[in-house]
Amino acid sequence: MGSSLCVDDIAGMVQDERVHRDVYASPDVFELEMERIFGRTWLLLGHDSQIPKPGDYFTTQMGRQPVIAVRQNDGSVRVLFNRCAHRGPMLCSLLKGSVSEFICPYHGWVYGLDGKLTSVPMPAGYPPAQSPQANGLGMIPVPRLEVYRGFIFASLAATGQSLKTFLGPVISSIDDLVDRAPDGEVEIGGGIGRHVYNGNWKFMLENHLDGLHPRYVHASSVAAANEQDDARATDGAGEVAVRQMRQNGAPNDLWEKIGLWTAPNGHGFLADYHDDEKLVKLSDDPLHVEYRRRMEARYGAERTREILTIMRWNTIIFPNVSFMSQFGQLRILRPVSVDRSVVETYVFRLKGAPEEMFQLSIAFANIVNGAGSPVLTDDLEVYERMQTGLHTDGNPWIDYARGYGRDVDTGDGMRRGGSGTSEIAVRNQFAAWRDYMTAESVEDAGGTAQ
Ligand code: FES
Ligand SMILES: [Fe+2]
Repeated sequence: MGSSLCVDDIAGMVQDERVHRDVYASPDVFELEMERIFGRTWLLLGHDSQIPKPGDYFTTQMGRQPVIAVRQNDGSVRVLFNRCAHRGPMLCSLLKGSVSEFICPYHGWVYGLDGKLTSVPMPAGYPPAQSPQANGLGMIPVPRLEVYRGFIFASLAATGQSLKTFLGPVISSIDDLVDRAPDGEVEIGGGIGRHVYNGNWKFMLENHLDGLHPRYVHASSVAAANEQDDARATDGAGEVAVRQMRQNGAPNDLWEKIGLWTAPNGHGFLADYHDDEKLVKLSDDPLHVEYRRRMEARYGAERTREILTIMRWNTIIFPNVSFMSQFGQLRILRPVSVDRSVVETYVFRLKGAPEEMFQLSIAFANIVNGAGSPVLTDDLEVYERMQTGLHTDGNPWIDYARGYGRDVDTGDGMRRGGSGTSEIAVRNQFAAWRDYMTAESVEDAGGTAQ
């Protein structure tokens, strides 16, 4: 496969204050994205707590390529292309499982956890010089793999930026998530949720750093939450729901003041937001007091205060991750086609923290991130309307001028929107997008900020 687009076509689609609709609607653009973005950058595949024991595996896709992440007998993690070396079918069709070896369902070739071919039925049928073993056949590892604080990243490109360079300053959001665990580790709990929307993958990444939309898109749940009688909505999960939905209806001047930061490679985060005294782990209710006690026992009062006063909301690691370090929530994005995207949602347990905190994180996920939530469904409706709206005639441009010219360099490799409702994050994502998409080789790609 491939795309007939040339560099000039791509460069012409992205301007300072607007972008051509083809970036969201053209199958040719999507093909090139699979090759030059998902085929080259680091992608988050999952977390090593999904595969605690040797033989545990999960399957996913990098761009269109099916892969298996599997725990080895020596405790390390390998990511292998999910493909039999004989005639090419996927070896594993389940999302997760535990095996001692991989056996092809077609003709029974057997592979070890490390991907090496260990046996072939009726081996005498092959000419000795062309036997599968003589040809060195096996499952092939993906070119690059790095695990950072439990997060499994891989790249389909053998060369390019190191993971740390790629992440740049937003690595601090991963640290923020993990540092909040009294035992210094997080783990995935409660399984993985999945939903699909009929819209381009970039819509979600833009939306998660969009401080302008909550009051409007989520107006119905804000209104419902405001009608709730506080005296009656006091059970844990219900209270979290009401508080979170109300937060989306915060007044405009609060949204204007929140911090919206961008970094090279299309990454960014929203910060200095969400100081609700019942949801935030710094607060003084008995559950959080106990949690803070455990943190202080481990890290001391000063370091604990430092960790817990970081008020970070969504962080985007372009092109496939969105997470909330403060609330232990994470989403992985998997584009299926130009107008269809899969989202996987994860909730983390902070190891060493009171178990009720994990239950609140699950409640939070159901309210904000789940397919049945009263909040997420509003956003999905907008993504699908955006995809449909792209096809109208008359104006082929999508505007993202809000705040243009008012963004400020903060001197630490990051930029900050002049206000929390600036469209700086979209401009920054497209600066990186253009850079990746016009780079002829992986060495030329990456590092660009708006
Ligand atoms: S295709 Fe896998 S063993 Fe033949
Ligand atoms: Fe939203």
